[in-house]
Amino acid sequence: VTSLALFGGTPVLSKDAHRLWPIVEEEERAAVARVLDRGILSGPFAPESMALEQEFARYVGARHCLLTHCGTSALVVALAAAGVRAGDEVIVPAYSFVATPLAVVQVGAVPVFADVDGETGCLDPAAAEAAVTARTRAIMPVHMHGCAADMAALLDVARRHDLVVVEDAAQAHGATFAGNPVGALGAAGGFSLQSSKNLSAGEGGLFVTNDDALADEAGAVRNFGQDLTRAEASTFDASRPLDGTRALDCKRLGSMYRGNEMMAAFARAQLAKLPERTVLAQRNAQRLSRALAELPGVTAPHVPAGRTSVHHKFRVHVDPAKAGLAVSADGMRDALLRALAAEGLEVVLWQAAPLVTQTVFQKRDPLGGFPRAQPGGTDLGANYDPSRYPRTRELLDGSLVLFSQSCPLIAQSEEVVDRYAEAFQRVWQHRQALVDWTAAHPSLVPS
Ligand SMILES: Cc1ncc(COP(=O)(O)O)c(C=O)c1O
Repeated sequence: VTSLALFGGTPVLSKDAHRLWPIVEEEERAAVARVLDRGILSGPFAPESMALEQEFARYVGARHCLLTHCGTSALVVALAAAGVRAGDEVIVPAYSFVATPLAVVQVGAVPVFADVDGETGCLDPAAAEAAVTARTRAIMPVHMHGCAADMAALLDVARRHDLVVVEDAAQAHGATFAGNPVGALGAAGGFSLQSSKNLSAGEGGLFVTNDDALADEAGAVRNFGQDLTRAEASTFDASRPLDGTRALDCKRLGSMYRGNEMMAAFARAQLAKLPERTVLAQRNAQRLSRALAELPGVTAPHVPAGRTSVHHKFRVHVDPAKAGLAVSADGMRDALLRALAAEGLEVVLWQAAPLVTQTVFQKRDPLGGFPRAQPGGTDLGANYDPSRYPRTRELLDGSLVLFSQSCPLIAQSEEVVDRYAEAFQRVWQHRQALVDWTAAHPSLVPS
């Protein structure tokens, strides 16, 4: 008999104790109303978009920034502008959100997967280097869960093999490597403004680069591939915001990847609060990590020296053997997920398998537009073999994400965070009973 909520005890936390994300306050309302009052809703040189681009560029120490309609389109624009072409190979981590390899496919290039570092979940530089072929054009690290990838080592691999680095910083606004914000440490990068992100606008994305020519190319790709230069911003006429001054030529493939003024204004209001919120998220993470460190076999997110994480997600690793339990890693994870959820915690898997397992990569349908492997390149049959990514598999089998997209760590008070520590301690104290119960009720555990 134990006090676990799963077995009928009182939950540590009530569901309504959480704060929902994103937080919409007077500043966001005023920002969107300002756009409606002005009447300019869109355009590559519209005022809110341009202001957000300048403010975000300053925030991440990049020379240029462009607003796009989502993080995926920021990545597509970055890859295309950085010179990735049809048939090229781009090395991506086996653990990410599917948008990372899909952005590669979108420019006609072939995503080639490499295993991740088991502690951070970020692309492993040695695995990335081992995946280089004569066809490789780019490496695309992901700053996973807000923790900077090992950029020094990845940039070194890229330099030695003459590759470009395009950063997927969708989850990592303000994270740093050796004191420098991520995003434009390589050739270019992309951030997401989707609702769950630390900086949100409902949907949206931000492309960044330090390279003037690449920024011009990105501006064109974002705008139907037309020869529209940033210098033409000075010709923008606020009284005729939808009209240009000359006929435009579509010079390369592109699409309509621009954002709009309401998302820009909303994001500006959120960006003003981001530094303070990031400190709060980091303080919350430290507080919870300290408490979890007391529990045998439980490891809080690891942030290597010289890097920072903005803790977009808080992935906790559990090792049943170190906790004295005879149960599989994923068995422990699933039982824990149920027990913590019963205590009132927000707890999710988010991803449960290496990206290659997803149908689109197993099928690789050329008629559906999936790029074909080129001679001299990677054997995709081998590269897309799910058994090739033991560290990704181990990481996902043996961990779960505390907090959810709707109620992320960054939105929660210290009191709520302390209840998470208390609930975890309670469940861990009764871990043997939990494992025994799970063995007796296999069908109640999520598959
Ligand atoms: C790692 C990663 N890359 C790319 C994206 C795509 O961003 P968006 O949904 O804004 O297109 C996301 C989030 O959704 C993400 O988590």
